[in-house]
Amino acid sequence: MDETRSDPMRTSPDLDPGTPMDRNLALELVRVTEGAAMAAGRLMGRDDKIAADRAAVESMRRALSFVDMDGVVRIGEGEKDQAPMLYIGERVGNGNPPAVDVAVDPIDGTRLVARGLPGGIATVALAERDSLFQTHCAYMEKLVVGPGARGAIDLRQPIARNLERIALAEGRNVADLTVVVLDRPRHERLLAEIRAAGARVKLITDGDVAGGVMAALPDRSGVDVLAGIGGAPEAVLTACAVQCIGGDMQCRLWPRDEEERRMVAAEGHDPDRVLTLPHLCSGHDIFFAATGITDGEMLTGVRFAGQAVRTSSVVMRSYSGTIRWTESVHDLRRLRQRPPVTMPPG
Ligand code: FBP
Repeated sequence: MDETRSDPMRTSPDLDPGTPMDRNLALELVRVTEGAAMAAGRLMGRDDKIAADRAAVESMRRALSFVDMDGVVRIGEGEKDQAPMLYIGERVGNGNPPAVDVAVDPIDGTRLVARGLPGGIATVALAERDSLFQTHCAYMEKLVVGPGARGAIDLRQPIARNLERIALAEGRNVADLTVVVLDRPRHERLLAEIRAAGARVKLITDGDVAGGVMAALPDRSGVDVLAGIGGAPEAVLTACAVQCIGGDMQCRLWPRDEEERRMVAAEGHDPDRVLTLPHLCSGHDIFFAATGITDGEMLTGVRFAGQAVRTSSVVMRSYSGTIRWTESVHDLRRLRQRPPVTMPPG
């Protein structure tokens, strides 16, 4: 019997259960993602990625400043020189303990939000200080599965072999598995291999955090695997959610050229190394929250009706393994008068 599954306080066979933080920060985090989603949702479909991103970033940063924590952004909007807010290394929270690493993606799927297409989310994760993987490499190769296939994946093996192992672990046929893949020219060969193996494919134009979370969630989404190359920050955020869910994930850095390869080496990383969940997020008490901005398969988008705004979120904690799906109704008038929300006019 898999002991890690019988103990609800453990989510990964590789992690010691450790000591939990004394509060469930996930519930505070969901306020952060709700605010960012509402701010960005106001600007949905205006074909202005920059304005939508700025609104989400400003809201998220302000909301984070009210959270009782001593946070450092490990994954954020980029380097300080280019990102005035939520840059890597920025201190967030009100400075009180606990000391945590924070990963933010105020909008995953900026293009989706700018064009009013499905699947844009606001997302945040955190875990104990120095527990989140750090790199300036832009991309990672990813493979994500749910709890039923934990321990069955190996990124060094061809995708066809992985699909066989996943199907075996879950007691299913490869033909019944659905693999979600970002629709990019770089995935031509991967897609050919998945199709040749006989699995079903679901292409997404953007938003592989939601794609990965859905692949890890059993029985919710109709997708079983996320495969392919996407953003490295998105990989770490996804890993936090996968730790909470009890699924499995492997990644490998994907430097685009020699310069990036040298940068990765200077960071002390080996681009050929397979990164497992504990490499990506080694925390014992990991929190993940996401709120829908545009309607998606995982989360409903923000709905405005006069002064009432509805948001739909998911919030998770690895220590307990609790996953909460929440619907909130916000009073826009009152929110505007109070911290921590910042909303664009309209
Ligand atoms: P942004 O919202 O930051 O634009 O990211 C969207 C996204 O689709 C991610 O979900 C994904 O990891 C990444 O872009 C893939 O990058 P690219 O579009 O360069 O292939």
